[in-house]
Amino acid sequence: MCGIFAVIGSREVSSIILDGLRKLEYRGYDSAGIATIDRSKTDQIGKLNIIKSKGKLIKLANLIKEKPPQGHVGIGHTRWATHGKPNERNSHPHLDSLAQIAVVQNGIIENYRDLSKSLKLKGIKLTSETDTEIIPHLIGLEIEQSLANGLSPNGQTLLIAVQKVLTLLKGTYAIAVIWSKAPNALVVASGQAPLVLGFGEGEFFCASDIPALAEFTRTFLPLEDHEIALLTPLGIELYDVDGNRQHRPPSLLEGTELTADKKNFRHFMLKEIYEQPEKTQFWIDRFLPMDLPLKNSLTFPISTYVLEKIEQIQILACGTSRHAAMVGAYLLEQFAGVSTKVYFASEFRYAPPPLSPNTLTIGVSQSGETADTLAALRMEKDRRDSINDANFSFHHLGITNRIDSSFGRELDNVIDIGSGIEIGVAATKTFLGQMLSFYGLTLLFASYRQKRTPQEILDLSNDLRLIPKQQTDLIKKHDSLSREIAHMFVETKDVIFLGRGINYPIALEGALKLKEISYIHAQGYPAGELKHGPIALLDKHVPVVSIAPPGVVYEKVLSNSQEAKARDARLIGVSTSGQGAEMFDELFTIPKVSEWVSPLLTVVPLQLFSYHIAAHKGLDVDQPRNLAKSVTVE
Ligand code: F6R
Repeated sequence: MCGIFAVIGSREVSSIILDGLRKLEYRGYDSAGIATIDRSKTDQIGKLNIIKSKGKLIKLANLIKEKPPQGHVGIGHTRWATHGKPNERNSHPHLDSLAQIAVVQNGIIENYRDLSKSLKLKGIKLTSETDTEIIPHLIGLEIEQSLANGLSPNGQTLLIAVQKVLTLLKGTYAIAVIWSKAPNALVVASGQAPLVLGFGEGEFFCASDIPALAEFTRTFLPLEDHEIALLTPLGIELYDVDGNRQHRPPSLLEGTELTADKKNFRHFMLKEIYEQPEKTQFWIDRFLPMDLPLKNSLTFPISTYVLEKIEQIQILACGTSRHAAMVGAYLLEQFAGVSTKVYFASEFRYAPPPLSPNTLTIGVSQSGETADTLAALRMEKDRRDSINDANFSFHHLGITNRIDSSFGRELDNVIDIGSGIEIGVAATKTFLGQMLSFYGLTLLFASYRQKRTPQEILDLSNDLRLIPKQQTDLIKKHDSLSREIAHMFVETKDVIFLGRGINYPIALEGALKLKEISYIHAQGYPAGELKHGPIALLDKHVPVVSIAPPGVVYEKVLSNSQEAKARDARLIGVSTSGQGAEMFDELFTIPKVSEWVSPLLTVVPLQLFSYHIAAHKGLDVDQPRNLAKSVTVE
């Protein structure tokens, strides 16, 4: 979603801001803009330069190239439209009436209508449809007041004005503000939307995500909730919500994980699909080494009390993460015997189930920033903390790929899935990483609760250890098959995905991947449901993808597929090549594996299938329209 990059220092900043914004492109956006302050040679007052454009960053880059805006301080933004269409007028930065203050914002100001009304009553004309524009106007009014009271036009005055305005805002925000009368100052603030400070050599940065900073500095400090910072060419002053100066040491970014490189792949998504065997191996080496007894080897942040005493688990997640959670719930219930329920985080938030005792709450989010999931977790924590009864304590666990995210900061117990940065908006390797975490949890619960025999636990562990090699073979084989058949689906309007049991979530995930990147309508169903309605849709124009690995529901899924075949649907199978497979028009063969581990394999051809259809259609695979990598609004 929206991205912020801001910098202050002693060199020209417009190209630095553009580079920073490029690193945020993967989050998804539909317009972009920058503002810099060109400091006059004769006095301390600068001139505000603004350049904005609808569409991709390349357009903004061309405008900047034509007439580079001068300045040693500047702010940049990639906007994912919420309030108002994606056009130049609504894109950030937004200005006050005197065009002296420029603001970029992530998040949503919920009381912006009331604040707009009060601004209009003061004669201020709003020029955009955004919730953001009220912020520079409010800051402008505060500054006018401060100057009238004798304060000087400088960074401190800007800081005080922003501090006052923040008390008026309801909702979530991350903002960066510059003022032409204080060209040596940049003010940034965060309220439940992430911002990270970066410490360079003679220059200081702020961005909504660490990858944007990695090229410029490896020393960073995430802002805590409701903190505000004043950045100058000399350093950074950090304050808490009450205006108390804060002193926290920054952290050092290690490794190259956060700097993304497409290597020789045409798209990040394909590269990320190819990385999955290596990521699975990494997970096995980390959590499932051969030589340790299982109870010690899974070093998850989960207490023995939770493992032994918890009566049920509730999982909160959205989108693809919810599909991983559904695979997890199947494993936890069916293999480990722990009653588990998965909720849409966005629904849980407003319609939570009655409080159950001895419950483990798990939040799953690759970005660790999904507003719905974070809000649902916070709500659950609050309602449990408000009860003075140990049986209702908030036992929790987060599963994320971004330990540096709000998940990492707000939750005490987090599993880092360690998939490495994922740039493709459509999640692939992080989905795998999330599923693997649930396999780990399942083994752990099963062995603590002695629900399974040691042999069954050993069998599942050994089956998991074979997965990397099997995934490598699958990718090799099905990358070419998917490429060969992609052209057949260019005109397709609807696709149905069928799966049962542990592979029902994979049917949902296969359908979601296809929708997201190829814009073909697709729906996943439990295969047995086909005849209860969706079958009415079937004819030769509606292909059906059946996920049918060997296992308890194998024959059932084949029968459901036959029902589709009888209605002339083109049948695509994800199955073994044995008996029964001849019914499929196209077959993505998978090896004969235990049904328990099959989702780790069946999802792979579906990812490749969606990828090649979208690539064949010439679509923007890595940044599909309207989607964002980090969904930071409700
Ligand atoms: C699909 C996809 C989305 C996310 C969803 C939740 O490819 O990426 O459906 O899964 O927006 O995001 P996270 O996992 O960041 O909470």
